[in-house]
Amino acid sequence: MRPFLIAPSILSADFARLGDDVKAVLDAGTDVVHFDVMDNHYVPNLTIGPMVCTALRNYGITADIDVHLMVKPVDRIIPDFAKAGASIITFHPEASEHIDRTLQLIKESGCKAGLVFNPATPLHYLDHVMDKLDVILLMSVNPGFGGQSFIPSTLDKLRQVRARIDASGFDIRLEVDGGVKVDNIAEIAAAGADMFVAGSAIFNQPDYKVVVDLMRAELAK
Ligand code: DX5
Ligand code: ZN
Repeated sequence: MRPFLIAPSILSADFARLGDDVKAVLDAGTDVVHFDVMDNHYVPNLTIGPMVCTALRNYGITADIDVHLMVKPVDRIIPDFAKAGASIITFHPEASEHIDRTLQLIKESGCKAGLVFNPATPLHYLDHVMDKLDVILLMSVNPGFGGQSFIPSTLDKLRQVRARIDASGFDIRLEVDGGVKVDNIAEIAAAGADMFVAGSAIFNQPDYKVVVDLMRAELAK
């Protein structure tokens, strides 16, 4: 498996000093900025859009930015995020009228593309698009808020998706999002994930590096 990536969800960062907080969490040894976009329509919360992504780039953030779209409709915001400096764009298949078209739109915009599965979203959405995916993101909570508990049935779903990725031969990251902590990251990795979103587990601690080092130690076990 490729090197594990830790992706701090900036939903739990300090929005009043976002640029500095994102720099701090990257300096603590994390890999990718996870950027949660919520529209108060597809999910019951409202967060940040392309302008904030642009602002982070202008502030000197060079790490990959992983834009997790929890919006409906999806397509019209994709070019804006690509222009704003997104590296990866993922969306929920239920929120798109034409999944294949949305994936193509992301790729044509120059970004990596992925599908996101809610805890109860069936995996059949993968059936005809494996060759177009750079990332598969399994939600281990229902989307909308940070700080929720990991839903244990995600482990079995991760194992199923890991088997499908390995059988496909495609180069696809398996990302997990929601309730990831120091004390469960090892078993999540054992189930097949190789990219870990963590919001509250990192940002709610005073010293981000301490948490990130503990996560890396768990992943090395
Ligand atoms: C939830 C978001 C997550 C969230 C994770 O809808 O997609 O990225 O911020 O937060 P934690 O790690 O606190 O569960
Ligand atoms: Zn997310």
